[in-house]
Amino acid sequence: MIVVTGATGNIGRSLVGRLLGEGAAVRALTRDPARAGLPAEAETVRADLTGTDDLVPLLAGAEALFLNLAAGGDRAAAALLDAAVKAGVRRVVLNSSMAVTDTPADEDNFIARLHAGLERAVRDSGLEWTFVRGGNYATNALAWAPSIRASGVVREAHPDAQGVPVHEADLADVAAVALLDRSGAHLGKAYVVTGPERMTVAQQVAEIGRAAGRATRVERISEEEAAEAMTGRHLTKEAALELVRMFGRTVDAPPFPVSDAVERVTGRPGRTFARWAQDHAADFS
Ligand SMILES: NC(=O)c1ccc[n+]([C@@H]2O[C@H](COP(=O)([O-])OP(=O)(O)OC[C@H]3O[C@@H](n4cnc5c(N)ncnc54)[C@H](OP(=O)(O)O)[C@@H]3O)[C@@H](O)[C@H]2O)c1
Repeated sequence: MIVVTGATGNIGRSLVGRLLGEGAAVRALTRDPARAGLPAEAETVRADLTGTDDLVPLLAGAEALFLNLAAGGDRAAAALLDAAVKAGVRRVVLNSSMAVTDTPADEDNFIARLHAGLERAVRDSGLEWTFVRGGNYATNALAWAPSIRASGVVREAHPDAQGVPVHEADLADVAAVALLDRSGAHLGKAYVVTGPERMTVAQQVAEIGRAAGRATRVERISEEEAAEAMTGRHLTKEAALELVRMFGRTVDAPPFPVSDAVERVTGRPGRTFARWAQDHAADFS
């Protein structure tokens, strides 16, 4: 039995399908099973990870856990990890971040700090582990969907910021291999998982326009305005500004090389952003 947190999310939904396809038994955690729309073959279990005191029953009989910080935040993830140890789970695959570099620089930004803290907890847990250090999720482009649908215009501080957007299905596929692996080849590995090609914001917006069959363009705004637009329940203005400035630095200095981890781990090349845009064309139409 493999327990999947964030099972209705971008990575989780894809992962549940992939694990079931491989014949694994899956327990999918969600706050609302009635709305989850997950396959009937999965055992879909109600769990609000921030509001449940005893998490051990969620892991009863499980061999492995896919842990995603998005499902309730870092405290919830740490509590679930403790519960996994108590329940006798053997392996955890952590959805981490390529912001983590295992250097003192990890203290410099909150995304790295957050994920590095959880990585430490996983290493200290004594469980078998694999880290999926993804970044620059292609799904971040869904934030542009309302403005693309309304006007075709995307407002960004750094249209030439460069990224290597990764398809959620590739993150899920890497996680699935690590969860199911019997050879031990992926234990103690931290995979930096990127998409297969470097692309600017402007190129991504153009690709979405092609897939959705509509005219799109990027309009430059100030860093302050961009941070304001990103600020919300999960992101303070200060953290948003930190992120916007980090994107700005990628215009002249791409932060990460393109990784071949998807191909190395799954045996097939990573999905392109054009493919992602086609898969999500309905979100932008
Ligand atoms: N975006 C990036 O570029 C990036 C880069 C590096 C790392 N990451 C990591 O990836 C994560 C996002 O993964 P994702 O896109 O797959 O997530 P997502 O689509 O946002 O999914 C999150 C899921 O978590 C569940 N959830 C939320 N609150 C919960 C709670 N209190 N208890 C239980 N479940 C809860 C929700 O399901 P229900 O509503 O069904 O409960 C939701 O579907 C980030 O948090 C970060 O750690 C992201």
